[in-house]
Amino acid sequence: MSNVFASTHPLVAHKITRMRDQYTLSKKFRELVREVAALMAYEATADLQVATRTVQTPLEQTQGYELKEPIGLIPILRAGLGMVEGIWELMPSAEVWHIGLYRDERTLKPVAYYNKLPIAPTVSVCLILDPMLATGGSAIATVDILKEWGVNKIKFVGILAAPEGIAALQAAHPDVPIHIAAIDNHLNEHGYIVPGLGDAGDRQFGTG
Ligand code: PRP
Ligand code: URA
Repeated sequence: MSNVFASTHPLVAHKITRMRDQYTLSKKFRELVREVAALMAYEATADLQVATRTVQTPLEQTQGYELKEPIGLIPILRAGLGMVEGIWELMPSAEVWHIGLYRDERTLKPVAYYNKLPIAPTVSVCLILDPMLATGGSAIATVDILKEWGVNKIKFVGILAAPEGIAALQAAHPDVPIHIAAIDNHLNEHGYIVPGLGDAGDRQFGTG
């Protein structure tokens, strides 16, 4: 599990508990997704490369830093959408490239339905955003797409993971770090994370 980073931050623990609560309504749930995503991105980007930059303060010239690598935020539709805003506020120059996948309810395999990536990669670091890492199928398919695109520095940033999903993503792509707010107990027979928070897409968008 060396490439797996589960948050130990009290703010994250507090907020995901509110997300799990079945009585938390969509508006609050969306707020929490946005806030937890920002906290997770802060942790996941601790090793981004910087270049030095000279800056003139009102008092004197000093040396500072700026981000060096173009960053891509890759939300997996739909549920990953809610994670974009909070992270984008922290890194407004990031590009956002959506990947549309849904999980077939019967086979639990991901089905691709949206991908408008240009032919050549325009970023060098990609943060895949999806609140739920269940079987891992959607995350693995997205890493496959990004590697095929030509990006090799890829991180998965999520909120809840099942051990099964972590194992599958690590087996398929051991080079991809997994930053997750919490690791839950298991998947149930329908592929839902237990104890989990239910359907992250439905809870954000008021569907289902
Ligand atoms: C959910 C979730 C992930 C996927 C995780 O999406 O947001 O994308 O399932 O499951 P996996 O790890 O087993 O692939 P879903 O397919 O429900 O689509 P939605 O976001 O449009 O609701
Ligand atoms: N997708 C969800 O939204 N929730 C789960 O528990 C598993 C997959």
